[in-house]
Amino acid sequence: MNWNKWIRQIHRWLSMIFTVTVIATFIALAQEKPIVWVSYVPLAPLALLLLSGLYLFALPYAGKWFGKRGGASGP
Ligand code: HEM
Repeated sequence: MNWNKWIRQIHRWLSMIFTVTVIATFIALAQEKPIVWVSYVPLAPLALLLLSGLYLFALPYAGKWFGKRGGASGP
């Protein structure tokens, strides 16, 4: 598996981890005494999603800039 596919897989699984942490935040804040620190936990996977997402966004253009065909979704 090449590097770009790895980043795509990581982005994919981070999105699931992020989703779970958001659901956990809803539950934590719905308590009688809200557990506020839990609401900061989604920021970690979100930061990694931002980095890997920007990388995925740049892939097709990087292919053009450096003279390759396609990019991540290309041949
Ligand atoms: C935080 C900033 C984010 C950026 C800049 C970003 C950007 C991107 C980009 C550029 C792609 C590739 C689209 C393509 O060419 O096919 C992508 C795919 C994807 N993103 Fe994000 N994303 C972000 C956050 C998220 C979040 C919060 C979620 C969900 C909780 C998410 C879930 C996904 C999924 C499931 C894919 C498809 C991955 C695959 O092809 O297997 N992303 N994202």
